[in-house]
Amino acid sequence: VNAQGYRELETRATALVAGEPDLLANAANFVALLYHAMDDVNWLGIYVLRGEELVLGPFQGLPACVRIALGEGVCGTAARSRRTQRVPDVHAFPGHIVCDTASRSELVVPLMRGGHLFGVLDIDSPSLDRFSEEDQRCIEDVAAAWCRSALADGAAI
Ligand code: SME
Repeated sequence: VNAQGYRELETRATALVAGEPDLLANAANFVALLYHAMDDVNWLGIYVLRGEELVLGPFQGLPACVRIALGEGVCGTAARSRRTQRVPDVHAFPGHIVCDTASRSELVVPLMRGGHLFGVLDIDSPSLDRFSEEDQRCIEDVAAAWCRSALADGAAI
């Protein structure tokens, strides 16, 4: 996906939400849209913040670990710091949690609304260094647009 493709994805992601208040359905459609639009990705999904841990939400890919404590792994690090984690080689990330052994690089983007953390968007690739800085920026934009259209302040599934 190039920058133009990501802009189209943003439009489609927000259009899928229009008029539909069900957050679980909207989250499921969001991950399906992104997964099928992106090349070279083996797992893509949302972990939702519940109390002090992340719990597996809608995803595409193989079954994954269900609970991740804040601060643990790539997802827990992104959630606790509220900062995107772009990991070119997951084997070099201390504390990386293996779910699908095919995963070699990973991008995790916090999903925020109104200053609250809803959860994280986790994207795994079987290729080393799959995600460029441009991918990061564009996916952060798509995720932020989806959060604005799909989430209320303090939303949770
Ligand atoms: N690798 C992640 C765990 C989730 S799976 O990749 C689906 C992590 O270290 O947080």
